[in-house]
Amino acid sequence: MAMDRREVVQTGLVAGLAACLPSSPSLARAEAPGQSGASLGVCYYPEQWPRSYWADDAAEMARRGITFVRIGEFDWSLIEPEAGRFDWQWLDEAMTTLGRAGLKVVMGTPTATPPKWLVDRFPDILPVAEDGAVRNFGSRRHCTLSSERYWAESRRIVSAIVERYGRHPALAGWQIDNELGCHDTVMSWGPVDLAAWKRWLVKKYKTIAALNEAWGTSFWSMQLTTFDEVILPVRAVTETAPAARMDYRRFSSEQLVAYAAMQGALIRAGSPGRFVTTNAMAFFPDFDHFALGREVDFMSWDSYPLGHTAEYLSEESELRRYARTGHPDVPAFNHDLMRGASGGRAFWIMEQQPGPVNWSPWNGVPEPGMVRTWIWEAFAHGAATVSMFRWRQARFAQEEMHAGLNRPDRKISPGGIEAEQVHRELVRLGPLRPAGRAPVALIFDYESVWYAKVQPQGADFNATLLAFAFYSALRRHGFDIDFVPPGASLEGYRLVVAPMLAMPRPDAVAALAASKAVTLFGPRTGSKTPDVHIPDDLPPGPLQGLLPMKVTQVGSMRPGLTEKVEGDGLAGHIVHWREWLETDLPALATFADGEKAVVAAGRHIYVAGWPDAGLLDGLVAHAARMAGLAPIALPADVRVRRRGDLMFASNYGATAQPAPAQAGARFVLGEATIAPHSVSAWRIS
Ligand code: GAL
Repeated sequence: MAMDRREVVQTGLVAGLAACLPSSPSLARAEAPGQSGASLGVCYYPEQWPRSYWADDAAEMARRGITFVRIGEFDWSLIEPEAGRFDWQWLDEAMTTLGRAGLKVVMGTPTATPPKWLVDRFPDILPVAEDGAVRNFGSRRHCTLSSERYWAESRRIVSAIVERYGRHPALAGWQIDNELGCHDTVMSWGPVDLAAWKRWLVKKYKTIAALNEAWGTSFWSMQLTTFDEVILPVRAVTETAPAARMDYRRFSSEQLVAYAAMQGALIRAGSPGRFVTTNAMAFFPDFDHFALGREVDFMSWDSYPLGHTAEYLSEESELRRYARTGHPDVPAFNHDLMRGASGGRAFWIMEQQPGPVNWSPWNGVPEPGMVRTWIWEAFAHGAATVSMFRWRQARFAQEEMHAGLNRPDRKISPGGIEAEQVHRELVRLGPLRPAGRAPVALIFDYESVWYAKVQPQGADFNATLLAFAFYSALRRHGFDIDFVPPGASLEGYRLVVAPMLAMPRPDAVAALAASKAVTLFGPRTGSKTPDVHIPDDLPPGPLQGLLPMKVTQVGSMRPGLTEKVEGDGLAGHIVHWREWLETDLPALATFADGEKAVVAAGRHIYVAGWPDAGLLDGLVAHAARMAGLAPIALPADVRVRRRGDLMFASNYGATAQPAPAQAGARFVLGEATIAPHSVSAWRIS
């Protein structure tokens, strides 16, 4: 465990690591890990390589500036090959080897991969797809978190691992499970799920009359007389009650968070002084990440910019343009969301794309320079650690086409060379300051994301992508953005953006009313009650106090259809979704048919539809001016982010671009001309 002190200081690790070792859960929440640190990590699978490689691998990791090594997250059948028979020897040796090289271990709990013997013994732990088919053993995440049996088995294996390694000197912290909910497993649709769902409904509604009222069961003769009659809102002849489906999403999200909290409690009890995190996924809609973030010391997420761009964006021209760089706002959106879910404190990248992945429809090779740019962008957004996935490309199995920092022949890969460059740059820069607070808040609302899935009313209405559109416009103007959940205090923010707040609760309305910020509201805000009913006085329902208007009619629009919008300094189109307003408020812009498209009630602005990029640029510029915020003029494909006393600018484009720096700025990374696919950083006052 003897770590070279010079190296520790140089990578800013002393502050980071000390803060990583809270002595109690409450202290852990107060002192976020690595706030002012910036270090590198790697995901390692010793079980997939001969033991004769391990010591060399560990020494090489340390030499290349790696501080943290995540292991173990899929190892259940290797640790417990038969029920109750544990084989710790190999993992003991791996821990010792890594520790001897001065590396800090992050141990994953292996509950994403229940072994075959466990599945055979308790087949009802398997998840069930919407069509009723059992989702079988053979890959991973073959478990439903509704299963009390699976909870018991999870407790057993987590307790055993915590007991074995909880106080190991090489252990820095824990990753709960792996990508909870991945592969569409947050919701499962079998008998075990039905039982858990009924329990949840009894707790929520107390009486069946209350449930009938909320779900609107007088429609289509859906009344229930007892909770026993409840079935899963799936596999009916046609659409099931929207309120029931909304509840099923809430139930499934809460269950996932409770499951993670159960593991977190076991870890904290048996592994004092170690941090607890879990790795989330980009744009993942099916559970509330703010709620999960409250159960861990900080959130981590897995950043694969090429795969995420390919999977979530749909415009063919953008997909081609960013095929080898990723869209410039895709990693940033998720960094800001995870920092928000970490309560504004430092977060981690637990897995960073090092080269081509294997799981998207087409898997390109990142442009030279992008791996380094992605790592620096994560640090710029407040990441404490960026851990690369994986140390070495596997020679076998599902991910053998996925790059690593090293090639299968044990030689360094292009991504490995770029990560090593970042290490040298970190050493040169010294510790980074905390990210600090942004002037702009974006209210990101999981209930709206779920609601838009339950009742899209337009085949391509996706509330996450609506938020992404607003976010991108803010970034094109050079603003730093904090993500906050609805109901969080908005104090101190100059500009607040609420892309969609479908069913605002009293705390969200109160926070908006108390805020002094200029606020820009997107469509469908206040459009439903939490039970998915239309508000008595029409939308925006409880926000009518701030926005005196009624939305009287809405219509969705096929791809390619647009409605022109024009106003003073505002010009563009509405796409996907249009609304009709009844209001005396002045119009900032109107539709071609004379109807109001953008209205303002003092500092509250509402846009009656899904604005395209042109209209959003105008809206953001207008709102920023009102808020007294100065935008930064940025070349296309360049984005900026401040962290402490540094300003970072990344260039996702293929041509060199000027950095938006003050004359005489002192550059600490790159230069005043940002090279293609590269990053520059300079000191700001
Ligand atoms: C992540 C996952 C890893 C690995 C990786 C490949 O989603 O957590 O285990 O599968 O993707 O890109």
